[in-house]
Amino acid sequence: MSSHIRRIAVCTGGGDAPGLNAVIRAVVIAAANRGWECYGIRDGFNGILFPERYPEGGVFRLTRERVRGIGHLGGTILGTTNKGNPLHFPMKMQDGTTKDVDLSGEILEYFARKEIDALVSIGGDGSLTIANALHKKGLRVVGVPKTIDNDLDKTFTTFGFDTAVAFATECLDRLHSTAESHQRVMVVEVMGRYAGWIALHAGIAGSAHAILIPEIPFDVDKVAAKIRDRDAEGRMYSLVMVAEGAEPIDGHREVLAPAEIGHAERLGGVGEQVARVLADRTGKDVRVVVLGHLLRGGSPTSFDRLAAMRFGTAAVRALDEGQSGIMVALGFPNVNYVALEEVAGRMKAVPLDSDTLQTGRDVGICFGD
Ligand code: F6P
Repeated sequence: MSSHIRRIAVCTGGGDAPGLNAVIRAVVIAAANRGWECYGIRDGFNGILFPERYPEGGVFRLTRERVRGIGHLGGTILGTTNKGNPLHFPMKMQDGTTKDVDLSGEILEYFARKEIDALVSIGGDGSLTIANALHKKGLRVVGVPKTIDNDLDKTFTTFGFDTAVAFATECLDRLHSTAESHQRVMVVEVMGRYAGWIALHAGIAGSAHAILIPEIPFDVDKVAAKIRDRDAEGRMYSLVMVAEGAEPIDGHREVLAPAEIGHAERLGGVGEQVARVLADRTGKDVRVVVLGHLLRGGSPTSFDRLAAMRFGTAAVRALDEGQSGIMVALGFPNVNYVALEEVAGRMKAVPLDSDTLQTGRDVGICFGD
């Protein structure tokens, strides 16, 4: 099928993740090789919705020259935002109130006016939900799955996750020696929102002694017992990996800031909470390390770079074949395509029968249950 594409746009939305620039580069080169022009939208859709914020242009031409040498760089040359979802934009009214407004019409109007034929939307659950809504309103859209959290359904993994896991693993490696030297308990809090993928994968790879994830409500007394058992065996230190969304069986999830219109709630603080109780129950010296946004930075691993390039070029191939309303997904052995409808608004949690989880249990890691 002929796509009749002359011009496409690319945007990055949600929290940044290592590999975004590699996707952008792959899209631009694959598009240029087909004779298409490519445009970058700044900060999600803000470049279209609020052009006055960008004296240098809210939407700009992405040439091969512009994307040269960016494949290994963290962040996104387009900028991103996880505030101000255009489907539920928090518009300040004259009376001081804030109203939930749908700005998608302005985005569609922009594409029509500028004769941009299609969009490659690189993002997580929120961005792909927006992409799906734009597709339903008539825009030709292909999504690319991004997030360090790995919580997107219908793809084996998202790009950004491997880099986050590699960094968290290296942090655990470093913490083993200082924890052992001081006979301490080190509690390491990692991001991941409501899924425990980063904590689980890095926790096992980095030999944590306990891993607490949102999928398994934890009893902190079980973790304290594990630490005491290790002490009794002469292993006088312990590493506890905690996902930011982990919840105690008798408590609640720690929230730093509540959700607002167009912005999800911010999680964080469970590491401190766990550390306080463990210090009390074990009498040991406990320290907390919150890896936070460090997990989102840095150069993508080779796995993430390759995934990003496979995703970016596959997105362009899909548009060339006339497809729309789909997300590129990682399957085996090849990338494949799934309907955005099947991804939007869904979350992929760690399955309780996952062999990775079982691996942790078989090597004696405590999951707080
Ligand atoms: O979704 C990516 C992520 O890094 C989550 O792991 C985390 O909860 C959230 O974004 C943090 O968002 P912010 O950048 O607003 O602090």
